[in-house]
Amino acid sequence: MEINRNTIIKDLIESHPETLAVFKKYNLVIAGGVRGPNEPIAFFAKAHEVNYDILVQELNEAIAKGGGETVEIPTLEEDKIYEKFVKTAIILTLTVGVTFGAVILSYIAVKLNFNSIYYALIQAHGHAQIFGWVGLCIMGFALYIIPRVKNTELRHRNLANICYGFIITGLFLRIVLQPTPFRSIRFLVLISAILEIISICLFAFIILRTIFASKEKPGIFDKFFMAGISWFLISTFINFGMIVYLYKHVTYEIPKVVFSPFVHLYLFGFVFMFIFAINIRTVFAFLDIKPVREKAVNLTFWVLNISVPIYFITHLFAHRSIIALRLSQGIAFPIAFALITFIYGLRIFERSTKELQDVVMDRSYAKTIRTAYLWLIVTMVILLIIPFLGYDSDMQRRFHGSLNHAVTVGFITMMIIGYASKMIPTFKGIDMYSLKLSNLTFILINTGCFLRVFSQILVGINGKPLFYAIMGTSGWFEVAALGIFGYNLWKTMNTTQEVKSPVAVKLTEVTKDTKVFDIVDQYPETLQIFLDFGFSQMANPVMRKTMGRVASVEMATKMHNVDIEKFLHTLNDKISSKK
Ligand code: HEM
Repeated sequence: MEINRNTIIKDLIESHPETLAVFKKYNLVIAGGVRGPNEPIAFFAKAHEVNYDILVQELNEAIAKGGGETVEIPTLEEDKIYEKFVKTAIILTLTVGVTFGAVILSYIAVKLNFNSIYYALIQAHGHAQIFGWVGLCIMGFALYIIPRVKNTELRHRNLANICYGFIITGLFLRIVLQPTPFRSIRFLVLISAILEIISICLFAFIILRTIFASKEKPGIFDKFFMAGISWFLISTFINFGMIVYLYKHVTYEIPKVVFSPFVHLYLFGFVFMFIFAINIRTVFAFLDIKPVREKAVNLTFWVLNISVPIYFITHLFAHRSIIALRLSQGIAFPIAFALITFIYGLRIFERSTKELQDVVMDRSYAKTIRTAYLWLIVTMVILLIIPFLGYDSDMQRRFHGSLNHAVTVGFITMMIIGYASKMIPTFKGIDMYSLKLSNLTFILINTGCFLRVFSQILVGINGKPLFYAIMGTSGWFEVAALGIFGYNLWKTMNTTQEVKSPVAVKLTEVTKDTKVFDIVDQYPETLQIFLDFGFSQMANPVMRKTMGRVASVEMATKMHNVDIEKFLHTLNDKISSKK
């Protein structure tokens, strides 16, 4: 099999099992399910920082040495450790998360009053979203990705199930019981916080043991993971403190002056550190851009990790002390500086290096990752405006709510959607279930987020019913977006990749009646020929699997006005050169 930059790793392993040893040497079959990565070699080499030419040379040497049929092929296993975390996160956000949020928002819009809602319900929604939707997604991905970027095995894998069981029980008890006035069972809210602490400590233990067990040279992203773990632990203990307060004072609402800064400590500390760590390690390959500017991302690391605790403490006391108030207003600037420095360091809006421009692969996730950073810029701008608004005024509260939404939906949720759409198919060695649904999700979530963030600001500026009405509808766009995304991802996660069955009829010659899918499926190297003859849709794996199964060479050449004789001749030349 002739290897080219678009050769799919699992196809090469299939036809030349002896190449598996080379891929293992370069740590390139650590994802991808039972058949190996469904990724073009050139992309995977860049993503894993392996020199493409040396890799191909070694692969060709292994093939030349042959002996594939005698080589013992260790079965590749599919690691599904992330699945239950991600599936539970989807269920949570589609029930008590975005859907409940959209109901609350519509109610506020009808009442033209943000204080018309029992705040404990909003806090239950908030907890379900930050610990449930976001927390579970990050835990699931981290348990899968960190051992792979650290080139080691996950330690204490069995504890991950306990970690999962405890966190979802804790979440369930908290979300159901915080807003409900059943005094006799209020102690269960305390239990919920203790279960979450145990779960998050177990998670931290597993991840830290895995990182420390790695023999890999520490990368710049390592300290972001460490800081993220620390903020996750700190958050869960602060959460416990807030629950003890609720229990002791027999109340249902955590004071807003504590809950709101706590939410930002969790987001700017734990969540940002994990997202930044994964971005530093992967965005250069995903977006085909230069590697990060280390000085800039290092600066972000220190400025953000110093600013976050100051932000939290000064906001806690801003209503009591003018010094704390001024500091809480001033700290917005270093945080904004840290975010813009990271965007500069990550090169997220810079031109592509074009190193992978010849590589055929789905890149639909790229716009989602870039748009997430646009929303981070919106978050930053609102963060810089808030200190200039009257402290605790209605307008400031509305801007605060908009900032929350820009960061939780615009940046974080968008990032989860972008990465899940890229990573989960990669984990499984298959394609995303539907690119159409991915694009629809992108349009709907951005529409909903835009309407919410800017109509809530306008409500804060002049409170017109029209802006309330727009705001009240915005949540339903986001519910639709996450519903479609959840369905698309669930279908992808449920797709099992069966070991490729030997083809019924091995193609020896392509005729005008041959289906285009069979040609590329049996001879992946012919894909380049299709592209050279202008069949650009063949670049899309889903199109190949759908249209390609029905379209014969005759139909395709007619549709694209291609000289069938010349095309058949070129294809058969390629195939016969294989024999
Ligand atoms: C996507 C659809 C969503 C809708 C319709 C929605 C709706 C709401 C509403 C109406 C409020 C109360 C008003 C306000 O404070 O602005 C709220 C607050 C909150 N939401 Fe959401 N939300 C959504 C997504 C999210 C996400 C993805 C997260 C977190 C990852 C989140 C976390 C929170 C938190 C923590 C609060 C309380 C903020 C505070 O009191 O300081 N929400 N949400």
